[in-house]
Amino acid sequence: MLWNITICFFIFVKLHEAANILVVIPYAVTSHYKMQRPIGLELARRGHNVTVITPYLELDCPPTYHQVKVSEKKIWTVIDKRWEDLSNVVKVTSVDFHSNILWTGGLALTKTTLKNPDVQKFLTNNQTFDAVISEQFYQEATYIFAHKYKAPLILITTFGSSIKHNVATRNPLQLATLVNEFVEIKSPNFFKGRLWNLLFSSYEYIWWRFWFLKKQEELVEKYVPNLPQPSPSLYELQQNVSLYLMNTHFSFDPPAAYLPNFIEIGGIHLNEEVEKLPQDIQRILDEASNGVVYVNFGSNIKSSELPIEKKNALINVFKSLNQTVLWKWEDDNFGNQTANIKTRKWLPQNEILAHQNVRIFISHGGLMGTIEAIFHGVPIIGIPLFGDQYNNLLQVENAGSGIILEYHNLNENNMRSLINHVLSNEKYKNNARDLSIRFRDRPIKALDAAMYWIEYVIRHQGAHFMKNPALKLNWFAYNMFDVYLFILCVFIISVYVSYRCLKFLVYFRINTRFDRKLCGKVKFQ
Ligand SMILES: *[C@@H]1O[C@H](CO)[C@@H](O)[C@H](O)[C@H]1NC(C)=O
Ligand SMILES: *[C@@H]1O[C@H](CO)[C@@H](O)[C@H](O)[C@H]1NC(C)=O
Ligand SMILES: *[C@@H]1O[C@H](CO)[C@@H](O)[C@H](O)[C@H]1NC(C)=O
Ligand SMILES: *[C@@H]1O[C@H](CO)[C@@H](O)[C@H](O)[C@H]1NC(C)=O
Ligand SMILES: *[C@@H]1O[C@H](CO)[C@@H](O)[C@H](O)[C@H]1NC(C)=O
Repeated sequence: MLWNITICFFIFVKLHEAANILVVIPYAVTSHYKMQRPIGLELARRGHNVTVITPYLELDCPPTYHQVKVSEKKIWTVIDKRWEDLSNVVKVTSVDFHSNILWTGGLALTKTTLKNPDVQKFLTNNQTFDAVISEQFYQEATYIFAHKYKAPLILITTFGSSIKHNVATRNPLQLATLVNEFVEIKSPNFFKGRLWNLLFSSYEYIWWRFWFLKKQEELVEKYVPNLPQPSPSLYELQQNVSLYLMNTHFSFDPPAAYLPNFIEIGGIHLNEEVEKLPQDIQRILDEASNGVVYVNFGSNIKSSELPIEKKNALINVFKSLNQTVLWKWEDDNFGNQTANIKTRKWLPQNEILAHQNVRIFISHGGLMGTIEAIFHGVPIIGIPLFGDQYNNLLQVENAGSGIILEYHNLNENNMRSLINHVLSNEKYKNNARDLSIRFRDRPIKALDAAMYWIEYVIRHQGAHFMKNPALKLNWFAYNMFDVYLFILCVFIISVYVSYRCLKFLVYFRINTRFDRKLCGKVKFQ
């Protein structure tokens, strides 16, 4: 009897707490999906009714996990074809990267997502949601769902914080130490770095706020009809975000001041126990008595499409190594087979990095791969290609667990000496191990932290009290300009008054002295 009551009680509590949650991760960027997929799945596992707008269908998922499938079109296929070519991508400047890739691609993909018939059908169902979770990645139009469903908005970034979100929510900017997410800055703390960070962030913010968001708003108008009126602007929605989940952790990224609704969940997709490796790869790794050099330039870049001289430089170095080289190589004819080079079109990266024989990871510095290497304590030789990769690798270099090799310096000599340097120098292995230990040392696992705060925001209907009260102030008051101005006025007035008083006193004294002298003379006479 008691038992039954207890069970009923728990079922009641469970049902009572179960929420309807919409998760919007519509872009077919494999690494971004990989980071965010555990969130929706875990929410469903905890009994919430989850609806995910996604290009990738999960097959093995809880019954309360519902999926609305959108196109698997990659960002590279919707932008100017020039940028598909690796040799162009590595030359692209931060400004071009934004205007030609992120903004153009973002608008095209947001449009594809919103006009998708399944999404349109989903939007006409009169469903209710208790929270809307969206990725912050050039898809701001989807933030309007928070308004449509009158639900709190939760944002996830696959990188760290973003300057524009900090401006919007009035989190301290910290431009001297926090670098704009997609800009390459060689020495962020020096004058030139800080100057460029400020200039670039201003450029990005102005274009984003006054051009990109307007374009996103046009998409809202066109594809999300019948919104409750009055409808807030996308900027207002960004200001009103309830929770901001960032793929960083202070043990690796620069520590920064964040409002309480900014939560670091770097490493959310990782676990102490990893999946089993395919047998052939397990054997290769187990049998590599001199260790393994693991090479993977991520899902966007194909090693097989590297320019011929870079390819040959790598092959020449690799075949002369005593280590086994495990290399993601995407076309069928590698053609340079030697006993120690093993290629596969796809490799289970996290599981490979977890193997104790892996000695070096040669990577492009994508955040997911970098975090996986940190988690498993593997030194990195990083060849940054675009986006945030340089920044990620700079953190690795600062932690002493890796080295950057710039793409234009990638040749046989440099690669050979770097590999030998990292292999023969214990400090890389040791630093990587220390970094791994401190990255894992947390009061609560990243996925549990994300769950706790998402449920917290739902429990407290958006948790308005966590938002910066400065949002209610105007720009002048927020920056204390009125107070500074007042103090300046008081200062100027008091200086002026003192000056006048002094002048008067001096004048008075001279005159009285003169008078006294005169009087004296008069007396004596
Ligand atoms: C759960 O979500 C699905 C798909 O969005 C929806 O059809 C269903 O009505 C929801 N269930 C509840 C109990 O709200
Ligand atoms: C949803 O609600 C609107 C207005 O309340 C109504 O016109 C429409 O028929 C509803 N749609 C469905 C699928 O029930
Ligand atoms: C901000 O979000 C809350 C829900 O979390 C909502 O009640 C409120 O109306 C929103 N305010 C604006 C200005 O969008
Ligand atoms: C690799 O193979 C290709 C074609 O078989 C050849 O052109 C190239 O020179 C080889 N590279 C090296 C480093 O042996
Ligand atoms: C490779 O191994 C051989 C024999 O063990 C050794 O003589 C040689 O120095 C090693 N080469 C490198 C680059 O470590």
